[in-house]
Amino acid sequence: MSNNQKYSSHILNDNFWLPFTPNGDFRLDPKLFTQADKFYYQDDAGNRILDGVSGLFTSALGHRRQAISDAIYQQLMTLDYTPSFYRSHPLAFETAKELAKILPPQLDRLFFVNSGSEAIDSALKVALAYQRARKQSSRTLFISRERAYHGVNFGGVALSGLTNNRRQFAGSWPQVVHLRHTWLEENRFQRGQPQSGDYLADDLQRLVELHGAENIAACVIEPIAGSTGVLVPPKGYLERIRLLCDRYDILLIMDEVICGFGRTGKAFASQTFAIRPDIITLAKALTNGTQPMAAVAVDRRIYDCIVNAAGEQEIEFFHGYTWSAHPAACAAALATLRLYQEENTFANGEKLSPYFLDNLFELQGIPIISDIRGFGLLGGIELQPTEKPGQRGYQLQKKLFERGLHLKSTGDTLILAPILSADPAYIDELFSILRQVLSEEK
Ligand SMILES: Cc1ncc(COP(=O)(O)O)c(C=O)c1O
Repeated sequence: MSNNQKYSSHILNDNFWLPFTPNGDFRLDPKLFTQADKFYYQDDAGNRILDGVSGLFTSALGHRRQAISDAIYQQLMTLDYTPSFYRSHPLAFETAKELAKILPPQLDRLFFVNSGSEAIDSALKVALAYQRARKQSSRTLFISRERAYHGVNFGGVALSGLTNNRRQFAGSWPQVVHLRHTWLEENRFQRGQPQSGDYLADDLQRLVELHGAENIAACVIEPIAGSTGVLVPPKGYLERIRLLCDRYDILLIMDEVICGFGRTGKAFASQTFAIRPDIITLAKALTNGTQPMAAVAVDRRIYDCIVNAAGEQEIEFFHGYTWSAHPAACAAALATLRLYQEENTFANGEKLSPYFLDNLFELQGIPIISDIRGFGLLGGIELQPTEKPGQRGYQLQKKLFERGLHLKSTGDTLILAPILSADPAYIDELFSILRQVLSEEK
């Protein structure tokens, strides 16, 4: 910690409303980043803060990568904006083509959006449009899971007042029923995929029996539930979900907003776990966090079905955003994908993972820790709650910041997502701060 005077008091105002933040407390004890470089942030007092969660699962290559910044600048100086309705630009096609190269085979129809939440909304709409196009329009129900996080948009469909924008997705609010989550007491402190719990996938069978397969559009699953605190799927669980989706002709949407781009070793977790989704949502590390961009990767047969259902010169999918496939975002994504390839980033992450997991699980025994979970370069440390649940996690992430480590907390769970292109020295520094701070807690 440095004793430098923070200048934040001079620039804070009441105008900026921070998301997912206790705004009052933030103003009393602000945490401002002013610079970033490689594995570190710098705060407004000039302190270096190690980035232990890749920004927010975004900055897999580390911060301030020249090639990405240059590509964005060059693009803005060439073509700063183009709409994607009735118009496009070459980089949009190139980005889709490059992404298709690392996605599972057939999932190569890319719909670009600007955030993970938009990707999820868009994926739900693709599913509804597909079911309608193949004359299964009673399939409007979605299956999700307890403790899932799929972003914050609640489906602009219900709010839309334009017939065309609603017709294809009739049913307005998506109706959702939930599987149980996969955390089990007996799996505490298990590294990697837990041994037991695959039977939890049979909840899907029960929901089919309750609601009727003919009413279910899709099942939406995070391969590893990230934001809730890193719930790794039990062995055999995802396989069983896939099997049941096949049996009942239900689409499987894998939300890889966190897991995508090497976090689990392969480009996508569906490849790591060898499960074939029908749709993948991806975001965050697509541009290394430099530009808001996300995408929905759709299986060809779904795309073909939707497109072929429309008449000649008719719009096939009444959906899209002003900033879909923004030129600067495409330039950032292309430069990022190039770096991933040139620097073997996913392989580096895979190589670093055992060292990360060794360090993570060595924290077991610190009294306030009640569970540790981890896979690839994702880790969750669950803490014993104090009298007010969530308070310990919140206070600890603030304390860690003061001691030079940026982590995310959800409730009383700390979440780690190291930079993929980091090295063992980075992991050592991360755990040295973490171990010390956690050991001090009573
Ligand atoms: C699995 C998952 N889906 C969707 C989202 C929403 O993404 P965004 O915050 O970009 O809207 C998140 C965000 O963390 C996520 O973890």
